[in-house]
Amino acid sequence: MLSPLTLRDITFNSGVIQGPLAGYSCAPFRRLIWQHSQPAFCYTEMLPARQICIENGNINRYTFKHPDEGPLCYQLSGCSPEYLAQATQIVDAMGADCIDLNAGCPKPKIRKKGHGSALLAHPDQLYQCLIAMRRATEKPLLLKIRVDGNSAERNNSKVAQAALKAGIDGLVIHGRHWLEDDSTPCSYHQAQFFHEALPNIPIIWNGDISTPQSIKHITEATGCKHVMVARGSMGRPDWIHSLMHPSVDPASSSLARSAQWLKQHLDDLSTLEPAGRVYYQSRSIVHYYAKHLPLSEGIYLKQLINQADTLIKIINNLNNLIQDLDKQQL
Ligand SMILES: Cc1cc2nc3c(=O)[nH]c(=O)nc-3n(C[C@H](O)[C@H](O)[C@H](O)COP(=O)(O)O)c2cc1C
Repeated sequence: MLSPLTLRDITFNSGVIQGPLAGYSCAPFRRLIWQHSQPAFCYTEMLPARQICIENGNINRYTFKHPDEGPLCYQLSGCSPEYLAQATQIVDAMGADCIDLNAGCPKPKIRKKGHGSALLAHPDQLYQCLIAMRRATEKPLLLKIRVDGNSAERNNSKVAQAALKAGIDGLVIHGRHWLEDDSTPCSYHQAQFFHEALPNIPIIWNGDISTPQSIKHITEATGCKHVMVARGSMGRPDWIHSLMHPSVDPASSSLARSAQWLKQHLDDLSTLEPAGRVYYQSRSIVHYYAKHLPLSEGIYLKQLINQADTLIKIINNLNNLIQDLDKQQL
């Protein structure tokens, strides 16, 4: 069973967190999540600590927190304790409600720099990073990792020791090894090790959650009372709400709702990025809103975006569609 998450002296309103999604989980996406789901908090996408320090407080698409958003966890990546400490102070001052270190990213270009999941094999370095962040903020500090899974690596124990010694407030475990993809079932049993190694720290489970039934199954199998979900909300900002309230019949995706969500997403993005960039991004963003619709409606929504040659035309097309669908409802 899920229960509301408490980190340090803050109790959040739920036990479900919206996880980080590089390239996607910026403020426009998160504002929609807040309007339609209200999880415990949302994550920013992964923010390179060095970049945050170089830009020194610059508000942009990656760092902007919308006034309408609920609590927000800024996720940092890096392996330099100095940059991570400074970046922690910067995002703390920007209004972070919690701060997380990414020690799970499996991407070769991230691992090559010693960031993300590469930190797991270097527990001393991981500790230095975490303690530097710990000393830089009073806000809740989280660590997001991948587990040993079915690999021959045996990092879980040293990672847990480093996290405990540094004084983190919450541990997010994606229940797969960094070399394992979605086709590999998560290693549920490894959660138990972290409960024992970090008995006073909430362990937040991530991976394999798709339905209210899977939450029930996973919370029973892992003993975790808190979960993080990520991709399921893409194009469906009310998805977490339907996970948390299974008795309420979720309003199924309709063309009108998806068009409105997409329009708000693109309008908000336009306040953070040049129109040309939003125009190109709209082609990948529409894919997520379209995929939850009946096939013909999804194709129609994609055509509206892909046939327009400017962002203004895209927004006009969406406005016209929303008005037409409104009239049909009268
Ligand atoms: C496109 C994409 C981007 C992601 N970006 C991040 C990231 O920036 N930081 C991170 O810790 N995990 C990132 N993840 C991993 C997710 O947060 C999550 O751990 C993973 O997708 C499993 O959860 P899910 O099955 O609920 O999606 C990303 C995953 C995807 C698919």
